[in-house]
Amino acid sequence: FAATLHLESNARNERQVLRSIRKRINETGMKYGLLLLFALTLISCSKEQPALVFELQEEQYRPQIHFTPEANWMNDPNGMVYYEDEYHLFYQYHPDSTVWGPMHWGHAVSKDMVTWERLPIALYPDSLGDIFSGSAVIDWKNTTGFQNGEHPPMVAIFTQHLMEGERSGRIDFQTQGIAYSLDKGRTWTVYDGNPVIPNPGIKDFRDPKVIWHEESEKWVMVFAAGDRIKFYTSSNLIDWQFESDYGMEEGAHGGVWECPDIFKLRIEGEDREKWVLLVSINPGAPNGGSGTQYFVGDFDGKTFTNSQYPERTSWLDYGRDNYAGVTWSDIPEEDGRRLFIGWMSNWDYAQVVPTEEWRSAMTLPRSLHLKRNDQTGVYSVESRPVKELESLESDKIEMKYNAKVGKNNVYRFDQRNDKQFQLPYKLEVTFDLSESSSKYFGIRLDNPETGDVYELGFKDGRLFSDRTKSGNTDFEERFAKEIHYTQTRNISDDQKVELEVFFDHSSVEIFVNKGEFSMTELYFPKQGYMRGMIFSKEGEVTFNGLTTTSLKSIW
Ligand code: FRU
Repeated sequence: FAATLHLESNARNERQVLRSIRKRINETGMKYGLLLLFALTLISCSKEQPALVFELQEEQYRPQIHFTPEANWMNDPNGMVYYEDEYHLFYQYHPDSTVWGPMHWGHAVSKDMVTWERLPIALYPDSLGDIFSGSAVIDWKNTTGFQNGEHPPMVAIFTQHLMEGERSGRIDFQTQGIAYSLDKGRTWTVYDGNPVIPNPGIKDFRDPKVIWHEESEKWVMVFAAGDRIKFYTSSNLIDWQFESDYGMEEGAHGGVWECPDIFKLRIEGEDREKWVLLVSINPGAPNGGSGTQYFVGDFDGKTFTNSQYPERTSWLDYGRDNYAGVTWSDIPEEDGRRLFIGWMSNWDYAQVVPTEEWRSAMTLPRSLHLKRNDQTGVYSVESRPVKELESLESDKIEMKYNAKVGKNNVYRFDQRNDKQFQLPYKLEVTFDLSESSSKYFGIRLDNPETGDVYELGFKDGRLFSDRTKSGNTDFEERFAKEIHYTQTRNISDDQKVELEVFFDHSSVEIFVNKGEFSMTELYFPKQGYMRGMIFSKEGEVTFNGLTTTSLKSIW
Protein backbone atom coordinates (compact mmCIF):
# COMPACT_ATOMS: atom_id res chain seq x y z
CA PHE A 1 0.00 0.00 0.00
CA ALA A 2 2.82 2.38 0.83
CA ALA A 3 4.27 1.82 -2.64
CA THR A 4 0.99 2.34 -4.48
CA LEU A 5 0.32 5.33 -2.33
CA HIS A 6 3.61 6.86 -3.36
CA LEU A 7 3.00 6.08 -7.01
CA GLU A 8 -0.50 7.41 -6.88
CA SER A 9 0.47 10.60 -5.16
CA ASN A 10 2.86 11.22 -8.04
CA ALA A 11 0.37 10.41 -10.76
CA ARG A 12 -0.45 13.40 -12.88
CA ASN A 13 -4.06 12.71 -13.54
CA GLU A 14 -6.05 13.16 -10.35
CA ARG A 15 -9.08 11.54 -11.83
CA GLN A 16 -7.06 8.39 -12.46
CA VAL A 17 -5.94 8.42 -8.86
CA LEU A 18 -9.51 8.65 -7.70
CA ARG A 19 -10.56 5.83 -10.01
CA SER A 20 -7.87 3.57 -8.64
CA ILE A 21 -8.89 4.37 -5.07
CA ARG A 22 -12.41 3.41 -5.95
CA LYS A 23 -11.16 0.17 -7.47
CA ARG A 24 -9.16 -0.54 -4.38
CA ILE A 25 -12.18 0.09 -2.18
CA ASN A 26 -14.06 -2.43 -4.27
CA GLU A 27 -11.24 -4.97 -4.37
CA THR A 28 -9.96 -4.88 -0.82
CA GLY A 29 -13.02 -3.86 1.11
CA MET A 30 -13.98 -0.60 2.69
CA LYS A 31 -11.43 -0.67 5.50
CA TYR A 32 -8.28 -0.42 3.42
CA GLY A 33 -9.97 1.78 0.87
CA LEU A 34 -10.88 4.28 3.51
CA LEU A 35 -7.37 4.20 4.95
CA LEU A 36 -6.02 4.97 1.51
CA LEU A 37 -8.57 7.69 1.01
CA PHE A 38 -7.61 9.26 4.32
CA ALA A 39 -3.92 9.16 3.43
CA LEU A 40 -4.60 10.70 0.04
CA THR A 41 -6.73 13.41 1.55
CA LEU A 42 -3.76 14.37 3.73
CA ILE A 43 -1.44 14.38 0.71
CA SER A 44 -3.81 16.35 -1.45
CA CYS A 45 -4.40 18.91 1.30
CA SER A 46 -0.68 19.29 1.84
CA LYS A 47 -0.30 20.08 -1.88
CA GLU A 48 -3.09 22.62 -1.69
CA GLN A 49 -5.23 20.68 -4.13
CA PRO A 50 -8.99 20.95 -3.93
CA ALA A 51 -10.50 18.67 -1.31
CA LEU A 52 -10.98 15.11 -2.49
CA VAL A 53 -14.57 14.91 -1.40
CA PHE A 54 -15.37 17.58 -3.93
CA GLU A 55 -13.51 15.76 -6.69
CA LEU A 56 -15.35 12.56 -5.94
CA GLN A 57 -18.62 14.13 -7.05
CA GLU A 58 -17.37 14.97 -10.51
CA GLU A 59 -17.63 11.70 -12.36
CA GLN A 60 -19.40 11.85 -15.70
CA TYR A 61 -22.87 10.76 -14.61
CA ARG A 62 -22.80 11.84 -10.96
CA PRO A 63 -26.13 13.53 -10.19
CA GLN A 64 -25.65 17.09 -8.97
CA ILE A 65 -29.09 17.71 -7.45
CA HIS A 66 -29.92 14.21 -6.25
CA PHE A 67 -28.78 12.08 -3.35
CA THR A 68 -26.23 9.40 -4.23
CA PRO A 69 -23.99 7.35 -1.96
CA GLU A 70 -20.37 8.37 -2.29
CA ALA A 71 -19.50 4.89 -3.53
CA ASN A 72 -21.09 1.53 -4.26
CA TRP A 73 -24.56 0.14 -4.58
CA MET A 74 -27.80 1.72 -3.33
CA ASN A 75 -31.47 0.83 -3.84
CA ASP A 76 -34.67 1.64 -1.91
CA PRO A 77 -34.98 4.60 0.46
CA ASN A 78 -35.59 3.29 4.00
CA GLY A 79 -36.37 4.56 7.49
CA MET A 80 -37.32 8.07 6.40
CA VAL A 81 -38.05 9.96 9.59
CA TYR A 82 -37.81 13.58 10.75
CA TYR A 83 -36.42 14.45 14.15
CA GLU A 84 -35.00 17.70 15.62
CA ASP A 85 -34.52 19.59 12.36
CA GLU A 86 -33.11 16.63 10.47
CA TYR A 87 -34.59 14.59 7.66
CA HIS A 88 -33.12 11.11 7.97
CA LEU A 89 -32.66 9.04 4.86
CA PHE A 90 -31.53 5.45 5.27
CA TYR A 91 -31.16 3.31 2.20
CA GLN A 92 -30.52 -0.21 0.94
CA TYR A 93 -26.76 -0.29 0.66
CA HIS A 94 -24.08 -2.76 -0.37
CA PRO A 95 -20.81 -1.19 0.78
CA ASP A 96 -18.53 -3.72 -0.95
CA SER A 97 -19.65 -3.51 -4.54
CA THR A 98 -21.51 -1.55 -7.21
CA VAL A 99 -24.08 -4.32 -7.59
CA TRP A 100 -26.71 -5.59 -5.15
CA GLY A 101 -25.44 -7.87 -2.36
CA PRO A 102 -25.74 -8.29 1.42
CA MET A 103 -27.90 -5.36 2.39
CA HIS A 104 -27.00 -2.79 5.05
CA TRP A 105 -28.77 0.44 5.88
CA GLY A 106 -26.72 3.37 4.64
CA HIS A 107 -27.53 6.70 6.28
CA ALA A 108 -27.61 10.41 5.48
CA VAL A 109 -29.21 13.47 7.07
CA SER A 110 -30.39 16.77 5.67
CA LYS A 111 -31.86 20.01 6.95
CA ASP A 112 -33.81 20.59 3.74
CA MET A 113 -34.03 17.25 1.83
CA VAL A 114 -31.81 18.88 -0.81
CA THR A 115 -28.24 18.98 0.52
CA TRP A 116 -27.09 15.91 2.40
CA GLU A 117 -24.52 14.92 4.98
CA ARG A 118 -23.50 11.31 4.53
CA LEU A 119 -23.19 9.38 7.79
CA PRO A 120 -21.71 5.95 8.63
CA ILE A 121 -23.68 2.77 7.96
CA ALA A 122 -26.49 2.43 10.52
CA LEU A 123 -27.44 -1.28 10.36
CA TYR A 124 -25.34 -4.31 9.45
CA PRO A 125 -26.36 -7.86 8.56
CA ASP A 126 -26.42 -10.23 11.57
CA SER A 127 -27.26 -13.85 12.34
CA LEU A 128 -30.93 -13.28 11.44
CA GLY A 129 -30.00 -12.01 8.00
CA ASP A 130 -29.31 -8.99 5.84
CA ILE A 131 -31.20 -5.76 6.47
CA PHE A 132 -33.84 -5.30 3.79
CA SER A 133 -36.22 -2.38 3.36
CA GLY A 134 -38.24 -0.85 6.16
CA SER A 135 -39.18 2.30 7.99
CA ALA A 136 -38.47 4.31 11.14
CA VAL A 137 -40.62 6.19 13.65
CA ILE A 138 -40.08 8.33 16.71
CA ASP A 139 -41.52 6.55 19.74
CA TRP A 140 -42.66 9.79 21.44
CA LYS A 141 -44.54 8.02 24.23
CA ASN A 142 -41.75 5.53 24.87
CA THR A 143 -44.16 2.66 24.21
CA THR A 144 -41.15 0.39 23.69
CA GLY A 145 -39.58 1.29 27.03
CA PHE A 146 -36.25 1.74 25.21
CA GLN A 147 -35.82 5.39 26.26
CA ASN A 148 -32.91 6.12 28.57
CA GLY A 149 -32.08 9.83 28.51
CA GLU A 150 -33.37 12.93 26.79
CA HIS A 151 -34.29 11.59 23.33
CA PRO A 152 -37.34 9.44 22.64
CA PRO A 153 -36.28 6.24 20.86
CA MET A 154 -35.93 6.39 17.09
CA VAL A 155 -37.08 2.90 16.13
CA ALA A 156 -36.23 1.24 12.83
CA ILE A 157 -38.47 -1.58 11.60
CA PHE A 158 -37.06 -3.69 8.78
CA THR A 159 -37.06 -7.06 7.09
CA GLN A 160 -34.23 -9.48 7.76
CA HIS A 161 -33.46 -11.73 4.86
CA LEU A 162 -31.56 -14.89 5.72
CA MET A 163 -29.56 -15.74 2.61
CA GLU A 164 -28.56 -19.22 3.82
CA GLY A 165 -32.24 -19.93 4.41
CA GLU A 166 -33.14 -18.94 0.87
CA ARG A 167 -30.25 -20.91 -0.60
CA SER A 168 -31.20 -24.04 1.28
CA GLY A 169 -34.63 -23.96 -0.33
CA ARG A 170 -36.63 -22.86 2.73
CA ILE A 171 -39.44 -20.34 2.23
CA ASP A 172 -39.50 -18.73 5.70
CA PHE A 173 -36.27 -16.71 5.35
CA GLN A 174 -37.81 -13.21 5.69
CA THR A 175 -38.83 -11.86 9.12
CA GLN A 176 -39.48 -8.42 10.60
CA GLY A 177 -37.06 -7.02 13.17
CA ILE A 178 -36.44 -3.74 14.98
CA ALA A 179 -33.51 -1.67 16.23
CA TYR A 180 -33.38 1.64 18.09
CA SER A 181 -31.26 4.72 18.48
CA LEU A 182 -31.23 7.04 21.49
CA ASP A 183 -28.86 9.58 19.95
CA LYS A 184 -30.61 11.02 16.90
CA GLY A 185 -29.89 8.04 14.69
CA ARG A 186 -26.12 8.13 15.17
CA THR A 187 -25.74 4.75 16.89
CA TRP A 188 -28.09 1.78 16.85
CA THR A 189 -28.93 -1.15 19.10
CA VAL A 190 -30.53 -4.16 17.52
CA TYR A 191 -33.42 -5.45 19.67
CA ASP A 192 -32.38 -8.75 21.22
CA GLY A 193 -35.86 -10.26 20.91
CA ASN A 194 -35.86 -10.17 17.09
CA PRO A 195 -37.70 -11.20 15.03
CA VAL A 196 -40.75 -9.29 16.24
CA ILE A 197 -42.79 -10.93 13.46
CA PRO A 198 -41.54 -14.42 12.58
CA ASN A 199 -42.27 -15.90 9.19
CA PRO A 200 -45.43 -18.05 9.00
CA GLY A 201 -44.27 -19.82 5.82
CA ILE A 202 -44.64 -17.10 3.18
CA LYS A 203 -41.81 -16.61 0.69
CA ASP A 204 -42.22 -12.88 0.06
CA PHE A 205 -42.77 -11.29 3.45
CA ARG A 206 -41.12 -7.92 3.59
CA ASP A 207 -40.76 -4.12 3.66
CA PRO A 208 -42.60 -2.99 6.82
CA LYS A 209 -43.79 0.60 7.04
CA VAL A 210 -45.03 1.62 10.48
CA ILE A 211 -47.31 4.53 11.36
CA TRP A 212 -48.95 5.74 14.56
CA HIS A 213 -52.74 5.45 14.12
CA GLU A 214 -54.13 8.36 16.11
CA GLU A 215 -57.74 7.17 16.29
CA SER A 216 -57.03 3.73 17.73
CA GLU A 217 -53.85 4.82 19.54
CA LYS A 218 -51.94 1.94 18.06
CA TRP A 219 -48.95 1.35 15.86
CA VAL A 220 -49.93 -0.05 12.47
CA MET A 221 -47.52 -2.01 10.29
CA VAL A 222 -48.12 -2.60 6.59
CA PHE A 223 -45.84 -4.85 4.60
CA ALA A 224 -45.89 -6.79 1.34
CA ALA A 225 -46.51 -10.52 1.02
CA GLY A 226 -46.44 -11.51 -2.66
CA ASP A 227 -49.81 -10.46 -4.05
CA ARG A 228 -51.11 -8.60 -0.99
CA ILE A 229 -50.48 -6.11 1.77
CA LYS A 230 -50.58 -7.33 5.36
CA PHE A 231 -51.82 -5.17 8.21
CA TYR A 232 -50.61 -5.73 11.77
CA THR A 233 -51.12 -3.64 14.93
CA SER A 234 -49.16 -3.20 18.15
CA SER A 235 -49.16 -1.07 21.27
CA ASN A 236 -45.38 -1.21 21.78
CA LEU A 237 -43.69 -1.94 18.40
CA ILE A 238 -42.60 -5.30 19.83
CA ASP A 239 -45.74 -7.45 20.13
CA TRP A 240 -47.68 -7.51 16.86
CA GLN A 241 -51.09 -8.82 15.97
CA PHE A 242 -52.27 -9.73 12.47
CA GLU A 243 -55.36 -7.76 11.38
CA SER A 244 -56.06 -8.11 7.66
CA ASP A 245 -54.89 -8.70 4.09
CA TYR A 246 -55.54 -6.32 1.22
CA GLY A 247 -55.23 -6.33 -2.54
CA MET A 248 -55.31 -9.89 -3.87
CA GLU A 249 -58.04 -8.88 -6.33
CA GLU A 250 -57.12 -5.23 -6.83
CA GLY A 251 -54.54 -3.19 -8.69
CA ALA A 252 -51.79 -4.52 -10.93
CA HIS A 253 -50.44 -8.02 -10.38
CA GLY A 254 -47.82 -8.44 -13.08
CA GLY A 255 -45.16 -9.01 -10.43
CA VAL A 256 -44.52 -9.20 -6.72
CA TRP A 257 -45.73 -6.42 -4.42
CA GLU A 258 -43.10 -4.53 -2.43
CA CYS A 259 -42.48 -1.49 -0.23
CA PRO A 260 -45.97 -0.26 0.77
CA ASP A 261 -46.79 2.94 2.61
CA ILE A 262 -50.06 4.21 4.08
CA PHE A 263 -51.04 7.75 5.08
CA LYS A 264 -53.90 10.20 5.21
CA LEU A 265 -54.22 13.12 2.79
CA ARG A 266 -56.72 15.95 2.77
CA ILE A 267 -58.61 16.21 -0.53
CA GLU A 268 -57.57 19.54 -2.06
CA GLY A 269 -60.35 22.09 -1.92
CA GLU A 270 -62.42 19.96 0.46
CA ASP A 271 -62.52 19.41 4.17
CA ARG A 272 -62.34 15.64 3.95
CA GLU A 273 -59.45 13.25 4.22
CA LYS A 274 -58.81 9.92 2.55
CA TRP A 275 -56.21 7.22 3.09
CA VAL A 276 -53.64 6.51 0.40
CA LEU A 277 -51.90 3.16 0.10
CA LEU A 278 -48.74 3.08 -2.03
CA VAL A 279 -47.65 -0.30 -3.36
CA SER A 280 -44.58 -0.85 -5.50
CA ILE A 281 -44.60 -3.72 -7.96
CA ASN A 282 -41.84 -5.47 -9.84
CA PRO A 283 -42.21 -6.32 -12.66
CA GLY A 284 -45.57 -5.08 -13.92
CA ALA A 285 -45.20 -1.29 -14.22
CA PRO A 286 -46.92 0.38 -17.19
CA ASN A 287 -43.68 0.91 -19.12
CA GLY A 288 -42.13 -2.33 -17.90
CA GLY A 289 -40.20 -3.46 -14.86
CA SER A 290 -40.54 -1.61 -11.56
CA GLY A 291 -43.22 0.96 -10.72
CA THR A 292 -45.43 2.28 -7.94
CA GLN A 293 -49.22 2.07 -7.90
CA TYR A 294 -51.56 3.60 -5.35
CA PHE A 295 -55.02 3.04 -3.92
CA VAL A 296 -57.28 5.68 -2.36
CA GLY A 297 -59.77 4.60 0.28
CA ASP A 298 -60.64 4.30 3.95
CA PHE A 299 -58.74 2.76 6.82
CA ASP A 300 -60.10 2.05 10.30
CA GLY A 301 -56.81 1.02 11.88
CA LYS A 302 -57.29 -2.61 10.88
CA THR A 303 -58.69 -2.87 7.36
CA PHE A 304 -58.22 -0.86 4.18
CA THR A 305 -61.08 -0.48 1.68
CA ASN A 306 -60.57 0.92 -1.79
CA SER A 307 -62.90 3.77 -2.77
CA GLN A 308 -61.80 3.80 -6.39
CA TYR A 309 -63.25 1.50 -8.95
CA PRO A 310 -61.48 -1.71 -8.04
CA GLU A 311 -60.53 -2.42 -11.65
CA ARG A 312 -58.70 0.86 -11.97
CA THR A 313 -54.93 0.95 -11.43
CA SER A 314 -53.33 4.28 -10.65
CA TRP A 315 -49.62 4.99 -11.00
CA LEU A 316 -47.64 7.50 -9.03
CA ASP A 317 -45.19 8.16 -11.86
CA TYR A 318 -45.22 7.09 -15.49
CA GLY A 319 -41.46 6.98 -15.99
CA ARG A 320 -39.28 3.91 -15.74
CA ASP A 321 -37.20 5.21 -12.85
CA ASN A 322 -39.16 5.91 -9.71
CA TYR A 323 -39.48 2.82 -7.55
CA ALA A 324 -39.96 1.73 -3.94
CA GLY A 325 -40.71 5.30 -2.88
CA VAL A 326 -42.21 5.98 0.54
CA THR A 327 -42.87 9.02 2.71
CA TRP A 328 -41.28 10.63 5.74
CA SER A 329 -42.60 9.85 9.18
CA ASP A 330 -43.01 12.43 11.96
CA ILE A 331 -43.11 15.57 9.82
CA PRO A 332 -44.26 18.30 12.26
CA GLU A 333 -47.96 19.12 12.07
CA GLU A 334 -47.24 22.80 11.30
CA ASP A 335 -45.51 21.68 8.11
CA GLY A 336 -48.36 19.38 7.18
CA ARG A 337 -46.81 18.03 3.99
CA ARG A 338 -46.59 14.38 2.97
CA LEU A 339 -43.00 14.16 1.73
CA PHE A 340 -41.81 11.47 -0.63
CA ILE A 341 -38.60 10.17 -2.17
CA GLY A 342 -38.19 7.21 -4.52
CA TRP A 343 -35.32 5.10 -5.78
CA MET A 344 -34.49 6.49 -9.23
CA SER A 345 -33.91 3.26 -11.09
CA ASN A 346 -35.54 0.06 -12.29
CA TRP A 347 -34.69 -3.56 -11.51
CA ASP A 348 -34.69 -4.24 -15.28
CA TYR A 349 -31.23 -2.63 -15.57
CA ALA A 350 -30.28 -0.98 -12.25
CA GLN A 351 -27.23 -3.18 -11.75
CA VAL A 352 -25.69 -2.51 -15.15
CA VAL A 353 -26.18 1.23 -15.68
CA PRO A 354 -22.89 2.78 -16.83
CA THR A 355 -21.76 4.51 -13.66
CA GLU A 356 -18.42 3.48 -12.24
CA GLU A 357 -17.99 4.46 -8.64
CA TRP A 358 -21.53 4.16 -7.39
CA ARG A 359 -24.90 2.92 -8.61
CA SER A 360 -28.27 4.64 -8.23
CA ALA A 361 -29.65 7.94 -7.03
CA MET A 362 -32.84 8.95 -5.24
CA THR A 363 -35.52 11.04 -6.96
CA LEU A 364 -35.95 14.68 -6.05
CA PRO A 365 -37.99 15.07 -2.87
CA ARG A 366 -41.67 15.65 -3.66
CA SER A 367 -44.81 16.43 -1.75
CA LEU A 368 -47.90 14.32 -2.43
CA HIS A 369 -51.37 15.81 -2.88
CA LEU A 370 -54.82 14.31 -3.26
CA LYS A 371 -57.28 15.61 -5.85
CA ARG A 372 -60.82 14.54 -6.63
CA ASN A 373 -62.15 15.03 -10.13
CA ASP A 374 -65.53 16.78 -9.82
CA GLN A 375 -66.98 15.14 -12.91
CA THR A 376 -65.81 11.55 -12.53
CA GLY A 377 -65.29 11.41 -8.77
CA VAL A 378 -61.94 9.73 -9.39
CA TYR A 379 -59.17 10.48 -6.90
CA SER A 380 -55.61 11.05 -7.97
CA VAL A 381 -52.38 11.51 -6.09
CA GLU A 382 -50.17 14.27 -7.49
CA SER A 383 -46.43 14.75 -6.94
CA ARG A 384 -44.81 18.18 -6.76
CA PRO A 385 -41.12 18.98 -6.30
CA VAL A 386 -40.58 20.49 -2.83
CA LYS A 387 -40.11 24.26 -2.54
CA GLU A 388 -36.77 23.74 -0.79
CA LEU A 389 -35.30 23.02 -4.25
CA GLU A 390 -35.57 26.73 -5.00
CA SER A 391 -32.42 27.24 -2.94
CA LEU A 392 -30.45 25.72 -5.85
CA GLU A 393 -31.68 28.24 -8.40
CA SER A 394 -29.43 30.74 -10.15
CA ASP A 395 -29.54 32.69 -13.44
CA LYS A 396 -33.27 32.50 -13.83
CA ILE A 397 -34.37 33.92 -17.19
CA GLU A 398 -38.05 34.39 -17.96
CA MET A 399 -39.59 34.86 -21.35
CA LYS A 400 -43.14 36.13 -21.36
CA TYR A 401 -44.12 36.48 -25.01
CA ASN A 402 -45.70 33.85 -27.25
CA ALA A 403 -43.50 31.96 -29.67
CA LYS A 404 -44.15 29.33 -32.28
CA VAL A 405 -42.02 26.55 -33.64
CA GLY A 406 -42.76 24.29 -36.59
CA LYS A 407 -41.21 21.50 -38.56
CA ASN A 408 -38.41 23.66 -39.92
CA ASN A 409 -37.45 25.83 -36.99
CA VAL A 410 -36.66 25.14 -33.35
CA TYR A 411 -36.38 27.51 -30.39
CA ARG A 412 -32.92 27.22 -28.82
CA PHE A 413 -33.12 27.95 -25.11
CA ASP A 414 -29.48 27.07 -24.55
CA GLN A 415 -28.40 30.35 -26.15
CA ARG A 416 -30.16 32.69 -23.81
CA ASN A 417 -27.14 34.07 -22.00
CA ASP A 418 -23.43 34.08 -22.74
CA LYS A 419 -22.74 31.22 -20.37
CA GLN A 420 -22.19 27.72 -21.66
CA PHE A 421 -25.31 25.55 -21.46
CA GLN A 422 -24.84 23.22 -18.53
CA LEU A 423 -26.88 20.74 -16.52
CA PRO A 424 -28.32 20.61 -13.88
CA TYR A 425 -31.00 22.83 -15.25
CA LYS A 426 -34.69 23.52 -14.83
CA LEU A 427 -37.03 24.40 -17.66
CA GLU A 428 -40.59 25.62 -17.29
CA VAL A 429 -42.73 26.06 -20.35
CA THR A 430 -46.42 26.33 -21.14
CA PHE A 431 -47.72 25.02 -24.44
CA ASP A 432 -50.97 26.48 -25.69
CA LEU A 433 -52.68 23.69 -27.54
CA SER A 434 -55.67 25.79 -28.55
CA GLU A 435 -53.18 27.74 -30.70
CA SER A 436 -51.31 24.72 -32.05
CA SER A 437 -51.70 22.27 -34.88
CA SER A 438 -48.87 19.99 -33.80
CA LYS A 439 -49.51 16.53 -32.38
CA TYR A 440 -45.84 15.79 -31.69
CA PHE A 441 -43.77 18.42 -29.91
CA GLY A 442 -41.65 19.01 -26.88
CA ILE A 443 -38.19 19.62 -25.50
CA ARG A 444 -34.99 18.22 -26.95
CA LEU A 445 -31.48 18.03 -25.50
CA ASP A 446 -28.75 16.97 -27.87
CA ASN A 447 -25.08 16.82 -28.64
CA PRO A 448 -24.29 17.30 -32.35
CA GLU A 449 -20.79 15.86 -31.85
CA THR A 450 -21.91 12.50 -30.52
CA GLY A 451 -25.34 12.43 -32.14
CA ASP A 452 -27.03 11.85 -28.79
CA VAL A 453 -30.60 13.12 -28.60
CA TYR A 454 -33.07 13.02 -25.70
CA GLU A 455 -36.65 14.17 -26.23
CA LEU A 456 -39.71 14.60 -24.07
CA GLY A 457 -43.07 16.14 -24.82
CA PHE A 458 -46.47 15.16 -26.13
CA LYS A 459 -47.41 12.84 -28.94
CA ASP A 460 -51.10 12.41 -29.74
CA GLY A 461 -52.05 13.82 -26.35
CA ARG A 462 -49.82 11.58 -24.28
CA LEU A 463 -46.69 12.61 -22.42
CA PHE A 464 -43.62 10.78 -23.70
CA SER A 465 -39.98 10.37 -22.83
CA ASP A 466 -37.76 9.21 -25.67
CA ARG A 467 -34.33 8.02 -24.62
CA THR A 468 -33.90 5.57 -27.49
CA LYS A 469 -31.02 7.67 -28.91
CA SER A 470 -30.00 9.40 -25.70
CA GLY A 471 -26.41 8.12 -25.56
CA ASN A 472 -25.13 5.06 -23.77
CA THR A 473 -28.10 2.71 -24.02
CA ASP A 474 -26.80 -0.70 -24.96
CA PHE A 475 -25.84 -1.87 -21.45
CA GLU A 476 -29.26 -3.56 -21.23
CA GLU A 477 -31.69 -4.26 -24.01
CA ARG A 478 -34.73 -3.11 -22.04
CA PHE A 479 -33.29 0.32 -21.20
CA ALA A 480 -34.08 2.06 -24.47
CA LYS A 481 -36.13 -0.35 -26.52
CA GLU A 482 -38.98 2.05 -27.04
CA ILE A 483 -40.48 5.44 -26.27
CA HIS A 484 -42.23 5.61 -22.88
CA TYR A 485 -45.73 7.06 -22.66
CA THR A 486 -48.26 7.82 -19.98
CA GLN A 487 -50.88 5.11 -20.28
CA THR A 488 -54.00 6.65 -18.87
CA ARG A 489 -53.31 10.38 -18.76
CA ASN A 490 -54.23 12.24 -21.90
CA ILE A 491 -54.32 15.96 -22.45
CA SER A 492 -57.04 17.44 -24.59
CA ASP A 493 -56.06 19.68 -27.48
CA ASP A 494 -57.89 22.79 -26.35
CA GLN A 495 -55.98 23.40 -23.17
CA LYS A 496 -52.75 24.91 -21.93
CA VAL A 497 -50.26 22.42 -20.63
CA GLU A 498 -47.53 23.40 -18.27
CA LEU A 499 -44.25 21.50 -17.93
CA GLU A 500 -41.69 21.80 -15.17
CA VAL A 501 -38.65 19.72 -15.98
CA PHE A 502 -35.52 19.06 -13.92
CA PHE A 503 -32.54 17.88 -15.95
CA ASP A 504 -29.55 16.45 -14.11
CA HIS A 505 -26.45 14.78 -15.55
CA SER A 506 -28.14 11.40 -15.83
CA SER A 507 -31.84 11.93 -15.14
CA VAL A 508 -34.91 13.93 -16.00
CA GLU A 509 -38.02 14.55 -13.89
CA ILE A 510 -41.06 15.90 -15.69
CA PHE A 511 -44.01 17.41 -13.81
CA VAL A 512 -47.12 18.20 -15.87
CA ASN A 513 -49.61 20.89 -14.79
CA LYS A 514 -48.02 21.41 -11.38
CA GLY A 515 -47.70 17.71 -10.68
CA GLU A 516 -50.96 16.37 -12.11
CA PHE A 517 -48.77 13.59 -13.42
CA SER A 518 -45.06 12.98 -13.62
CA MET A 519 -42.38 10.99 -15.36
CA THR A 520 -38.95 10.16 -14.00
CA GLU A 521 -36.31 8.74 -16.32
CA LEU A 522 -32.59 8.10 -16.50
CA TYR A 523 -30.32 8.81 -19.49
CA PHE A 524 -26.60 8.48 -20.03
CA PRO A 525 -25.34 10.80 -22.83
CA LYS A 526 -21.88 9.82 -24.09
CA GLN A 527 -20.43 13.27 -23.46
CA GLY A 528 -23.23 15.32 -22.00
CA TYR A 529 -25.83 17.34 -23.88
CA MET A 530 -24.71 20.65 -25.39
CA ARG A 531 -27.91 22.16 -26.70
CA GLY A 532 -31.53 22.52 -25.63
CA MET A 533 -34.51 23.45 -27.76
CA ILE A 534 -38.28 23.41 -28.19
CA PHE A 535 -39.30 21.43 -31.26
CA SER A 536 -42.34 20.33 -33.18
CA LYS A 537 -42.35 17.45 -35.64
CA GLU A 538 -45.76 17.77 -37.24
CA GLY A 539 -47.36 21.18 -37.61
CA GLU A 540 -46.76 24.14 -35.32
CA VAL A 541 -46.84 24.50 -31.56
CA THR A 542 -47.31 27.72 -29.61
CA PHE A 543 -45.64 28.15 -26.26
CA ASN A 544 -45.32 30.93 -23.74
CA GLY A 545 -44.00 31.55 -20.27
CA LEU A 546 -40.67 29.84 -20.92
CA THR A 547 -38.29 30.06 -17.95
CA THR A 548 -34.81 28.60 -17.76
CA THR A 549 -32.99 28.26 -14.46
CA SER A 550 -29.47 27.01 -13.81
CA LEU A 551 -29.24 24.83 -10.74
CA LYS A 552 -26.32 24.72 -8.34
CA SER A 553 -24.74 21.45 -7.33
CA ILE A 554 -25.72 20.14 -3.91
CA TRP A 555 -22.19 18.83 -3.26
C1 FRU B 1 -37.37 -3.43 -3.54
C2 FRU B 1 -36.71 -4.57 -2.78
C3 FRU B 1 -37.44 -4.81 -1.47
C4 FRU B 1 -36.37 -5.43 -0.62
C5 FRU B 1 -35.14 -4.71 -1.08
C6 FRU B 1 -33.90 -5.53 -1.06
O1 FRU B 1 -36.54 -2.80 -4.46
O2 FRU B 1 -36.70 -5.73 -3.58
O3 FRU B 1 -38.60 -5.58 -1.59
O4 FRU B 1 -36.61 -5.26 0.73
O5 FRU B 1 -35.39 -4.26 -2.39
O6 FRU B 1 -32.77 -4.76 -1.30
